[in-house]
Amino acid sequence: MNHILVTGAAGNLGGRVLAALHRRGVPVRALVRHDDRAGALVGSPEVVVGDYDDHHRLTHALSGVHRVFLVSANGPAQVAQECAVIDAAVDAGVSLVVKVSAHGADPEAPVGFWRAHAAVERHLAQSGIRSVVLRPTYLMSNLLGEAPQVRQHGLLPSPPLSAPLAMVDPDDVADVAAHVLLGGTGPDVTQRTLHLTGPEPVTLGAVATLLGEIAGHPVQHLAAPPEQAQAAMRAQGVAEPVVAEILRLFAALDQGAYAATTTTVADILGRAPRDVRDFLHRHAHLFQPAA
Ligand SMILES: NC(=O)c1ccc[n+]([C@@H]2O[C@H](COP(=O)([O-])OP(=O)(O)OC[C@H]3O[C@@H](n4cnc5c(N)ncnc54)[C@H](OP(=O)(O)O)[C@@H]3O)[C@@H](O)[C@H]2O)c1
Repeated sequence: MNHILVTGAAGNLGGRVLAALHRRGVPVRALVRHDDRAGALVGSPEVVVGDYDDHHRLTHALSGVHRVFLVSANGPAQVAQECAVIDAAVDAGVSLVVKVSAHGADPEAPVGFWRAHAAVERHLAQSGIRSVVLRPTYLMSNLLGEAPQVRQHGLLPSPPLSAPLAMVDPDDVADVAAHVLLGGTGPDVTQRTLHLTGPEPVTLGAVATLLGEIAGHPVQHLAAPPEQAQAAMRAQGVAEPVVAEILRLFAALDQGAYAATTTTVADILGRAPRDVRDFLHRHAHLFQPAA
């Protein structure tokens, strides 16, 4: 019987949590939406296929589970779907939910994603289940989405943004999640809400310089005007409400919303958080033109 359920297991953070638990030799159950993603999961976990909208499958996924890692994608259904998972976890007798939220989560936040996380956090707090909320800043893995632009055009595009970001390595978020899921303690774990950052604030201009070293050709940060950024996201198929929120998110980031660091990752893991240079070097092949 596997007592830990990792949701979003085929996604960015869920997949990294799966890997972090596998490295620690812990067997887990993984929830994925699509059957065809099951074979590629790290560590060959027990797999349940299901959607957060499908109560029957959720109940099946949670049967016998004590601890849950909860993550979902930003979007209009996020609050209802994460709350449905929490309600099903209550019914299943789950004792701990570790939820991915975001730095800035607040009912009055200027960014819809952050208000949505605040609503789920409140539902979780009222559920009676013990919970730990992870509030990461900007995930370094966002940079991977720009790899084709870096390789082909020497550009790191973004909506307007000159303020630095205390961006965090997604593998550090996963290591913290694994630590908490396994009952690890630490000064901050008992505080319930963990603000996770990298070791230092960096601008996208500085990231572009690092990418240039890695790619072997100059890379420039291109802060596109909002209309141009909007058009580029639409062309990539990003849903309209998400496009609008991403622009509001970058406006908040440009005001310095993610500029400050915390010591939480180091306090919990007993080692320094990894920096963006380390992250980019681990993913260097994605940014380098084909030989
Ligand atoms: N990116 C950032 O800088 C950042 C910063 C702070 C917080 N966050 C938060 O991190 C979360 C995103 O994490 P991520 O990077 O791991 O995203 P991701 O790669 O998109 O993963 C989300 C996972 O949720 C699964 N999922 C979505 N809807 C589902 C549904 N209805 N039923 C079952 N599974 C469903 C997806 O399944 P599929 O694999 O089938 O798509 C996917 O595996 C968001 O809540 C965001 O607010 C992100």
